[in-house]
Formats: sequence, C-alpha cells, structure tokens
Amino acid sequence: MGADHGGVALKDELLPLLTDRGLTWKDVGTFGSEAVDYPDIAFQVARAVAGGEAAQGILICGSGIGMAITANRVPGVRAAVCNDLYSVRMARAHNDANILALGGRIIGSGLAREIVTTFLTTPFEKGRHLRRIKKMEGGCS
Ligand code: RB5
Repeated sequence: MGADHGGVALKDELLPLLTDRGLTWKDVGTFGSEAVDYPDIAFQVARAVAGGEAAQGILICGSGIGMAITANRVPGVRAAVCNDLYSVRMARAHNDANILALGGRIIGSGLAREIVTTFLTTPFEKGRHLRRIKKMEGGCS
C-alpha cells in the first residue's frame, strides 16, 4: 500500500480493512499531509509486486492516474485505475491486475472499501484473457 498527499487520508482509512481481512500488509507511505512525488511511492509498490515481495498492491494519489502510469513502467506490473466497481471487476477478471490505483480525490471511503474488497476477491478468468496478457507482456514488435 502506498499513497501521495492526495491519497494518504484514504490510505489510512483503508488499512484496517486489510487487517480485518487477515492480510499481511506493508505501508510504504506517505505518512503525513506534506506533498510528495507519486513516482517515488509508486515505484516502491510496483517493485515489491514485480519482485514477489507482495502478491498485490494498492496505490492512491489524487486521481489514481499518475500512480498507475508509473507502476506500469515496471515489467510484470498490471496496474489499473479503478474508481468504480465495474472497472475493478474487469481489471481482475479480464486483465489480472496486480495493482489497484485509486483516486483519493474522486471517491469516498465507502466506495473505496467496496472496490478494494472486489479487487482482493475477484479471480482472474484466464482462458482467452490469459492469451491476451501473454501478448501484452511480449511487448510490441
Ligand atoms: C498531486 O497534486 C496529484 O497530481 C497526484 O496526486 C495525482 O493525482 C497524479 O496523478
């Protein structure tokens, strides 16, 4: 879990949900309201997921967009901005997203909790979607 100043309040509201679900989690910050650069946070979470230290990651900035763009520069990461329930269901079922990016200035904590729960519980459907992910990871040629 990581957030910049645009997402830190939502991050702190969501951490108890992870504990309640019995998950082991690590919070890489930020820990206050002072402005920080979202790439510094996004790369820490992305490298933890790509390297296998974490099974999944959650990144929160003002919109979710900067976090996702940054995280997706790390090979093996599939970060998806999901500020609604349909997006997060598809991000897991079809795209096997391993990082969820949320917009702390877009959604409230109630919806965010539902999005996180859906992210953590929706399985990847595999099949034709696995073929497409393999093509994605082969890069452009
Ligand atoms: C910070 O003001 C803001 O740019 C950041 O939180 C994020 O929304 C970037 O994508």
